[in-house]
This record gives sequence, structure tokens and C-alpha cells, in this order.
Amino acid sequence: MIPTNLKKKFSCCVLAFLLFAVISMWKEKKKGSYYDPLKLQTEKLQVLRGLKKIAMGPGSQSAPSSNTQDTHRGSQALHSPRDQPKTELETFQMWSKDSSSKNLILRLQKIWRNYLSLNKYNVSYKGPGPGVKFSAEALLCHLRDQVNVSMVEATDFPFNTSEWEGYLPKESIRIKAGPWGRCAVVSSAGSLKFSQLGKEIDDHDAVLRLNGAPTANFQQDVGMKTTIRLMNSQLVTTEKNFLKDSLYNEGILIVWDPSIYHSDISKWYQKPDYRFFDKYKSYRRLHPDQPFYILRPQMPWELWDIIQEISSEKIQPNPPSSGMLGIIIMMTLCDQVDIYEFLPSKRKTDLCHYYQKFFDSACTMGAYHPLLFEKNMVKYLNQGKDKDIYLLGKATLPGFRSIHC
Ligand SMILES: *[C@@H]1O[C@H](CO)[C@@H](O)[C@H](O)[C@H]1NC(C)=O
Ligand SMILES: *[C@@H]1O[C@H](CO)[C@@H](O)[C@H](O)[C@H]1NC(C)=O
Ligand SMILES: *[C@@H]1O[C@H](CO)[C@@H](O)[C@H](O)[C@H]1NC(C)=O
Repeated sequence: MIPTNLKKKFSCCVLAFLLFAVISMWKEKKKGSYYDPLKLQTEKLQVLRGLKKIAMGPGSQSAPSSNTQDTHRGSQALHSPRDQPKTELETFQMWSKDSSSKNLILRLQKIWRNYLSLNKYNVSYKGPGPGVKFSAEALLCHLRDQVNVSMVEATDFPFNTSEWEGYLPKESIRIKAGPWGRCAVVSSAGSLKFSQLGKEIDDHDAVLRLNGAPTANFQQDVGMKTTIRLMNSQLVTTEKNFLKDSLYNEGILIVWDPSIYHSDISKWYQKPDYRFFDKYKSYRRLHPDQPFYILRPQMPWELWDIIQEISSEKIQPNPPSSGMLGIIIMMTLCDQVDIYEFLPSKRKTDLCHYYQKFFDSACTMGAYHPLLFEKNMVKYLNQGKDKDIYLLGKATLPGFRSIHC
């Protein structure tokens, strides 16, 4: 029989050895020329979870809500003293403008391929590319000239029929919104949590938020001001509290819904992704004075075409994310657009939204939306410093009025 004391000592040795092995493996990997930050992050987490399980004994499960802490602790635990002469910024894996599907974990690669074969919106891209190279200046001009940011109007069939009379806002969005100087687009990323960016965000002339992203109880991190809220039609159609929740009563509302690739308004109206029209009308009856626009369904595909044109491989044939649409909308209304946590900062986490306890790397890397390729474009166009991405998750793009083509 082995004395308990000896058993304990033995477990300790095994644990120490494992930890040493993990650190060595990690350092080895870091030295290599190819290094996938996401994969590594996941591996690190798995190894750490494994270690934790050993340490805590079999059968112990960490609660899902502790995952962010794990990530944080994980990166600290694996930070060896020999790394210290390098600054954190130097070792930080900044979003690369040339990220590709190879940077995705296998599950997300599979999803990307599945969407390509599904082609839900009947996309048949005939434009130049993929992989057309533009200078940043030329790309900005290309976006400005090819993406028509405008809203459905009361003269567009079938919105010109009696069924719709009085429902669309009478004034154009250009009268209600802007022109503004400095604007902020606030992503809903989990990495906004503990960011303390609230003051900085509210300091902008206008703030765009997405879908159901709240400010109450999160002011410290995301601010309080909401000038525009861009929502997808799924939220408007399916969110039970959409008509009741005061969250939606502030600022200008815009809803967007994906059409079949490049279909016009009347074709789209026959076959929207989500039939949000009745809910829209109900909301308008309850809040007739709040501007509430419907984005022209052509706009997302005009933008998608450009993302496809400049990307070096096929992108998901699904519309761009609300975040990317919001960025382009603000670029038409503002001189400068600061974008928060669209490119991940040092707080990067698999936590999807700062206001929900839900974890999935797809929220950063993209599954349905061509998020990876959108982020490449924003990184390419960023006029801010890498340090601002690292510390604040902030990228800065010029408004279309401040560029010269
Ligand atoms: C999809 O596209 C093909 C040709 O590109 C066309 O013939 C077909 O009618 C389209 N389907 C829908 C639902 O729009
Ligand atoms: C953008 O769309 C609006 C509404 O359909 C239209 O009146 C305008 O001419 C378009 N602008 C450009 C540059 O295509
Ligand atoms: C609505 O617009 C369509 C297409 O422009 C037009 O043919 C129709 O006459 C318009 N209807 C009304 C009631 O103005």
C-alpha cells in the first residue's frame, strides 16, 4: 500500500510536469512562422480546463459563466517571465488584414463551406476579383460611389399603395441625421465588458448601436447615448418585447432585411427574409414621432460585392453583418467614424455579447456573416493606431465627405 502523503506528492509532480510541458509546447508554437491565435487560444483553454479538472478532481465542472475568467487567467498563467522585455503590444496578435478562412477553427471552416454551397440568397457574383487590390484611398472612393446608402421611400412600390400610407417617415434620413463630426459605432462584442469606454463613446457627436444592445447597467463600458439603432428584421419580427421595451424608444431606428441577391424593392417585398412589416407598422402607430427607417435592401449587397471583390477567396454568400452596415451608414453621415471592438482588443473573448452569457468564437470570427472579411477590410482602411486597437478596440475610418476622389 502507498501512503496517502506519497500519493499527493506524486500528483503534484505530475501536475508540475504537465504545466511545464504546456508552457514548452506553447513557446515552441509561438516561435513557428505560422501561428493561429484563435486555435491557440482554444487549445490553451482546453489544456487549462483539463488541468483544472485534474486539480479539482474528477467530476468537477466549471460553470460556463466562469469562462471569461478562465481566458484571462489562462493568458496570465502562461506568461513566462522571459517574455517581459517585449511589451504586451508587441506580443499581441493584432487582427491581420490578410486573415483567411485558414485562420478559422475547423468548425467555422465547415460552416463557411456549408454557406457557400447553400447559397441561400442566390448570389451570382459577376464582378471583378476575387482579390482585386485597391489602395486604401481608392477603396474608400469605391465604397462611396458603389454603395448607395438610402432608405425605402414612400414613392417606392409597393410602399406607395394605400396599405402603407402614412407609415414611412416623411422626412429623408439626411434631414434627421447628421451631418456630424465624430461618430461612434459600438459593436455588441463581449470584449466591451470591463472596457470602461463609456465616457469616450458618449463623447462623440452621434453613437450608433446594434440590435438589442442595451446601455442601462452597462454605461461604464458602452456609454448611454444612442443616436441611431440599426436592427435586423429578425429582431423586429421575433423579439417579444420589441413594442414594449423602452430600449428602442431612443434615437433614430433603422431596420434592414436581406433580399435575394440584388433583387429590387418589389421583388424583395414578396419574399423578405423575415416578414417584419406588420410589426414595423405596429411600432409606428405606437411611436409616430420617432424616425424609423427601412434600409433599401439593395444596399447590403452593394457592400457585399465590394467585400467579395477585394477578398482573396470566396466569402459567405450572406449579407454583411449589422455592424459592417452600421459602419458604412455612419461613414455617409459623419466626418470620422470610431468603431469600438469590431477589431478585437486585448480584451478579446469568446463571450458573444457584453449583455449576455453566451460563448461562441463564431461571434468574433463569423459564421453566417462574412465577418472575417469585413474585419480585414476595416483593418486595411483603419487610420488609427494599432495601439488603439490593442487598448480600446478602436479603429478609425474617415467619413465619405472627408475623402478626395
Ligand atoms: C436564382 O438565380 C438563377 C440564375 O442566376 C435564376 O434562374 C433563379 O430564378 C433564381 N432564383 C430565385 C429564387 O431568385
Ligand atoms: C440611391 O438610391 C436612391 C433611392 O433609390 C436614388 O434616388 C438615388 O438616385 C441613388 N443614388 C445613386 C448614386 O445611385
Ligand atoms: C406606385 O409605384 C408604381 C411603380 O413606380 C407605379 O406604377 C404605381 O402607379 C404607383 N402607385 C400609386 C398608387 O401611386
